[in-house]
Amino acid sequence: MSRPRSGLGADWWRHGVLYQIYPRSFQDSNGDGIGDLPGITARLDHLNGKADSLGIDGIWLSPFYPSPMADFGYDVADYCDVDPRFGTLTDFDELLGSAHERGIRVIVDLVPNHTSDQHPWFLEARASRDNPKRDWYVWADPRADGSPPNGWRSAFPRVGRAWTLDQRTGQYYLHSFTREQPDLNWWNPGVRMAFEEILRFWLDRGVDGFRIDVAHRTVKPRSLRGHRPIENIPGVLDRMPPADEPELHALLRSWRQLLDEYDERMAVGEVFLFDPVKFVSFYGAGEDELHLAFNFAFLRAPWAAEAFRNVVATFERLLPQGAWPDYTLSNHDNPRAISRYALADDPERARRRARLAALMLLTLRGTPFLYYGEEIGMTDGPIPPERVVDVAGRDPERTPMQWDASRGAGFTTGDPWLPISREARTVNVEAQRSDPDSMLGLYRRLIAYRRASPALFGGGYRPIAGLPSDCFGYVREAETGAVAALLNFGDRPVRVRRDRLEGALGFRGGFVLSTDPGRGGPSSAGSFELEPDEGLLIENGGQPEAEDPLR
Ligand code: GLC
Ligand code: CA
Repeated sequence: MSRPRSGLGADWWRHGVLYQIYPRSFQDSNGDGIGDLPGITARLDHLNGKADSLGIDGIWLSPFYPSPMADFGYDVADYCDVDPRFGTLTDFDELLGSAHERGIRVIVDLVPNHTSDQHPWFLEARASRDNPKRDWYVWADPRADGSPPNGWRSAFPRVGRAWTLDQRTGQYYLHSFTREQPDLNWWNPGVRMAFEEILRFWLDRGVDGFRIDVAHRTVKPRSLRGHRPIENIPGVLDRMPPADEPELHALLRSWRQLLDEYDERMAVGEVFLFDPVKFVSFYGAGEDELHLAFNFAFLRAPWAAEAFRNVVATFERLLPQGAWPDYTLSNHDNPRAISRYALADDPERARRRARLAALMLLTLRGTPFLYYGEEIGMTDGPIPPERVVDVAGRDPERTPMQWDASRGAGFTTGDPWLPISREARTVNVEAQRSDPDSMLGLYRRLIAYRRASPALFGGGYRPIAGLPSDCFGYVREAETGAVAALLNFGDRPVRVRRDRLEGALGFRGGFVLSTDPGRGGPSSAGSFELEPDEGLLIENGGQPEAEDPLR
């Protein structure tokens, strides 16, 4: 079993910076246009182990298991193998070993809510009503008029209702996503045991943890009732199966105990819920359910200091003792940061905002997960109608990684499964690698600074009061030092008086870095001036007095 080389220790998942790889889109090694595991191994230098690497501490791999790809791998047909398009188990072991040698932990995606309809369990389950696997899935009789048992809808609007009639056996099966993804019945002890074996299979191989897909909806109410629609997506009444079955939490506790039998393993859950109280419940009492839950509240926050300040205040208040936040800016289901912040009339502005957001993500209390390509400022790729492949419109944020300016962007020598964005000619790793002012340069500096700063990777959080209203500011404090961030979300420059700021901080502020290239320090001796969409980092003490030309 391969184990990582890393100084971060058991709490690596709190202190480290993690990076999400969507295997199809990261690096193709054999010219079939589809990214694969050997491709990822070949690109590890970009992530860590070299002087000019990004410097991340762990990767989350989206599914690479055998799959008919109705949902690009989130429809799993075998939980303990590798799809031939992605490689072999040996390729996986090689990836794991090479990553561990560089101090990169590896977490894999666990998809417990549903399987593929081609999984042997489902093929058996649908064979007859008395098949021993029948009860592994959620079946229900039609209502008297033949209609589905209740009004639950799939998460994907295009799929419509969450029930499909199995003609042969005359019952409906539940699918919270596509028809090819039947939901498992988590009340069945056989399902629980099967998943414990799956967890152990990967833990015994040496993986460092799991990202749990749809962690908030696995266990359905036995009655298949009791759901009041909620507005989880603005303007859309969520008619999915409920997400508050108490048994869900018992399941997560049992997995936490299983993980605790091993050393230094973790679980991060996809908890796509926007009710803060429900959301934090997935941490349990603080250290007995999920280690981390992806918090999607930033994705909905308007570009305003107050909005971000409020999100952080809410979760700082509600998270139980011992729990650690995990804010999300982008992933394979959501637009990339630059595209979210794009203003039609001012493309440069979106880039500035993405830089500010990067500084925020990497300095808040919480574990950053960077989605591949964000570190070079990729935008959502344009997808012509005839190239659309995803049922839920998520192709733009999944376009191939842009390594260089060549035809295949360094991603492939063949025809890429999704079009390579035209911007790859200018926005790519190669072009940014040695440019400190580039997005990559900023990410690298932020990650390196964070790693060296106990205040940033583990310290407490305190908002700074009394700043101009467009400015969100906070202090991260540890016993050995403190760091403050000032973020101007407004359209106009903001001036923060040094004496006032230092009164609030309780320390003399030394300039560390700005998201604006070329800025070397505070704008005048008496104040920090921030341009629109500029972020600053300030540390306790900063440069020694004599070297600070501005004082
Ligand atoms: C999660 C995944 C998403 C997938 C869905 C069904 O939301 O992130 O990509 O489509 O689950 O597995
Ligand atoms: Ca390939």
